[in-house]
Amino acid sequence: MNADELKKQAAKAALEYITGGIIGVGTGSTVNHFIDYLATVKGKIEGTVSSSEASTERLKQHGIPVLDLNSTGDLEVYIDGADESDHYLNLIKGGGGALTREKIIAGASKKFVCIADQSKLVDMLGTFPLPVEVIPMARSHVARQLVKLGGTPVWREGFTTDNGNVILDVHNLEIMKPREMEQQINAIAGVVTTGIFALRGADVLILGTEEGAKTVQPK
Ligand code: 5RP
Repeated sequence: MNADELKKQAAKAALEYITGGIIGVGTGSTVNHFIDYLATVKGKIEGTVSSSEASTERLKQHGIPVLDLNSTGDLEVYIDGADESDHYLNLIKGGGGALTREKIIAGASKKFVCIADQSKLVDMLGTFPLPVEVIPMARSHVARQLVKLGGTPVWREGFTTDNGNVILDVHNLEIMKPREMEQQINAIAGVVTTGIFALRGADVLILGTEEGAKTVQPK
């Protein structure tokens, strides 16, 4: 099976967690499959809160209501993909650049169900370059601080986030202590969000594998 088929498998299995209420919807190719499956059970839910303009557009195309998080209170469940997950379900996210809204929705959700193909499960985070959303005027300053932490930041040129900011993709980081590193990077002036999701990681990881969808609980 190719990676896209494995993503589809994980996306379909996430429907099991859709029991009603208002749900959070992430961003990316795996979530796009999830949105398509969600359309088949849309009568079950009151609506969604979306983490990006791209997901909002796809949800609306399916006639699924998209609500403002300020009007919903906490969400029942959040479904989103990841670029990497370790066995504790600490994640790297933001490959699609939607990390800030994703982190807000993850924080506002009672349960975070991460969906991914099997290649995303790793022993240690950091092989995937870590996305960091930065206020544009702080780009060079933040890059210098990230170098001091041992990383090699690369500006994602030509890309602007839905919030009007830029992304630095940080290569060569060994993320041995994800919570500490999340706090350290978030503390740099000019950083909006780091793509490490450890302070609020996933509660459940559904992996698409050759043997079918597999549910992983945090170690
Ligand atoms: C977007 C994300 C995505 O969840 C992550 O990049 C995974 O994407 P895909 O499902 O396309 O592999 O964090 O900001």
